[in-house]
Amino acid sequence: MEWLRGGNVAARTRAAELLRRGKLVAVPTETVYGLAALAEDESAVRKIFSVKGRPLLDPLIVHLGSFEQVEGFCEVNPVARALAERFWPGPLTLVLPRRADCPIPDLVSAGKPTLGVRIPAHPLLRKLLCESQIPLAAPSANPFGYVSPTRPEHVATSLTNGVDAILDGGPCEHGLESTILNVSAEGEVRLLRPGPLSSEEILRVPDVRSVDSRRSDSSRPDAPGMLKSHYRPRKPVHLFPKGEFSGDSLESEAVVFLKRPTHPRENDFWFSESGQAEEIGRNLFDLLRQLDAHPTFASLRIETPISDTGIWRAIRDRLQRAATPPD
Ligand code: TXA
Ligand code: MG
Repeated sequence: MEWLRGGNVAARTRAAELLRRGKLVAVPTETVYGLAALAEDESAVRKIFSVKGRPLLDPLIVHLGSFEQVEGFCEVNPVARALAERFWPGPLTLVLPRRADCPIPDLVSAGKPTLGVRIPAHPLLRKLLCESQIPLAAPSANPFGYVSPTRPEHVATSLTNGVDAILDGGPCEHGLESTILNVSAEGEVRLLRPGPLSSEEILRVPDVRSVDSRRSDSSRPDAPGMLKSHYRPRKPVHLFPKGEFSGDSLESEAVVFLKRPTHPRENDFWFSESGQAEEIGRNLFDLLRQLDAHPTFASLRIETPISDTGIWRAIRDRLQRAATPPD
């Protein structure tokens, strides 16, 4: 595995060269690291599914440098255009109807009539996409169902086979996967996955009348990232509501608070110094991975926010899924 450091033109050029040759490159985004392949190359895309152990029914997001490219792949109605103008580049994925002449293989979108697209804001990836003009299919760079990677080291430790290179862009700014919206041909907006961009912010876009966030049937989710069990450490996770830690815990248990406790005990950890949602989101997956690898602990007891607004919603969503055993 090549480690492409420096965030410079040499690193980007090498990454683009490998991608054009059908190789898999882990790339930084402002949300989490992605495992990228040239979206037009079906056999390269197939490797993504096998390296991740991901079911072929779970569609991938295509990452692009420009809105013109989006228009070449998808039907873009006024609502989708307004969302794109307001939030791209940024942590938003739009699931839009595919154009009849869309050149992206069906495998990328798992045979669906829609395609998930996003223009990411991470400066290094943004430059790579704009310079090379190549569309990149990329899911999060973690084994299917496991905690997403927010640092290049996370990719290296959890995907040990089949990744040809890692483009090092440092730790991710948001640390939570993008907000996913489905925008229908009629302009109806549905939230498929809460993320760094909140429904409140989305509703401020004048063309958006409402955001439907009813959960779809989790046995047949619209976005398989919406499976009840996902983003899970290997160790069991138990949640307790904010401020309600009983004070009792096992010696083999790590207790994780949203904010640094005033008098931390030996087994205490925290997602943030400030208690602010942005900081918690940024550190969440990193701490889950550290504790999962920690030799002392057999299980994790984690404080969950009560608030369901803003980024809190995405934080609660990820913690609840981390605590849900697979069926
Ligand atoms: O922040 C992110 O979105 C990261 C970075 C790398 O961009 N990517 C990411 O990809 O989280 P992934 O594959 O781990 O999660 C994408 C989710 C999946 O649950 C997938 O089912 C859903 O997006 N998705 C993609 N295309 C879709 C489509 N056409 N219809 C419904 N859901 C779709
Ligand atoms: Mg994922």
